Amino acid sequence: MDTQALLQEAQNFQAENKEQLDAFKSRFLGKKGVLNDLFANMKHVAPESRKSYGQEVNAIKQAAEEKITQYTALFENSDSKSTPDIDHSLPGNWMPVGSMHPVTLVRNEILEIFSKIGFSVAEGPEIEDDWHNFSALNFPPEHPARDMQDTFFMDHEAAFALRTHTSSVQVRIMENHKPPIRITAPGRVYRNEAISARAHCLFHQVEGLYIDKNVSFADLKQTLLHFAKEMFGAESQIRLRPSYFPFTEPSAEMDVSCNICSGEGCNVCKHTGWLEIMGCGMVDPQVLSNCGIDPETYSGYAFGMGVERIAMLKYSIKDLRLFFENDVKFLKQFGNG
Ligand code: DAH
Repeated sequence: MDTQALLQEAQNFQAENKEQLDAFKSRFLGKKGVLNDLFANMKHVAPESRKSYGQEVNAIKQAAEEKITQYTALFENSDSKSTPDIDHSLPGNWMPVGSMHPVTLVRNEILEIFSKIGFSVAEGPEIEDDWHNFSALNFPPEHPARDMQDTFFMDHEAAFALRTHTSSVQVRIMENHKPPIRITAPGRVYRNEAISARAHCLFHQVEGLYIDKNVSFADLKQTLLHFAKEMFGAESQIRLRPSYFPFTEPSAEMDVSCNICSGEGCNVCKHTGWLEIMGCGMVDPQVLSNCGIDPETYSGYAFGMGVERIAMLKYSIKDLRLFFENDVKFLKQFGNG
């Protein structure tokens, strides 16, 4: 065996990976490896040459061991480097959690108050036809609400418009359901108004409708008093002022006692002690028959309120536009999750 060549092989060895190192290890130091063969060969070497032969074999052994130590260390280090340094005890990164929009919070609160006394939630489309938004609700053809100035029409024939109120959902429900009917209808409504602190081209309403035999104005009044107490506190009082809507007769506007000054008079209630929060009334018999319900047998009440208006009163928000600006600093102030 050429000891010189083996020594060179051992000295020149380079490993690119652990497999190559293992192969080198077993070639030189393995049971059937080169070095065992060389040592076994000792007895065939002439006695006078044994010393130098032994030195040559030891040199090969030393060279091989050096390479093995060197590359073992190298691959061990690189192994530990390939796994990143992770400290599992470090606290995690927090994901910022959003908060509910005040309009959503107040809408949910309104719906919940009514659902506890048996009202289920109904919905209708935001693009409405003339019948559901106006005609079935007794709006005469010359009514100003039908004017281009107030309503966003979808086409030149004015057959379709963005609904101007959620009262359109009343019509859809009465057309498709038999009394008793007891629903709330939340949703977005649109009006072609100049945007200011008190008016916007879009806002939210919650509609209410109750149709059954013998429903009276007293039922309406008691239901709304219950709502006011739940929404604004047990001390709240209400008053109903005569008003006019084409689809109710009689019609009223409801005020709630100012919860900011407890009726003493302040800027929010303009020193009257009262805040107007909704329109209401007994469903006009003509509207019932427009929707296929016999007004001789059934009667009912309806009401509609602006969600932003109630949120403004509840949270003392002075400008309606804040609801639609999506300023996180504003939105974060109201309950979360
Ligand atoms: N739809 C009316 C509005 O947008 C509000 C309203 C008044 C709804 C009286 C009603 C009602 O259901 O009975 O101004």
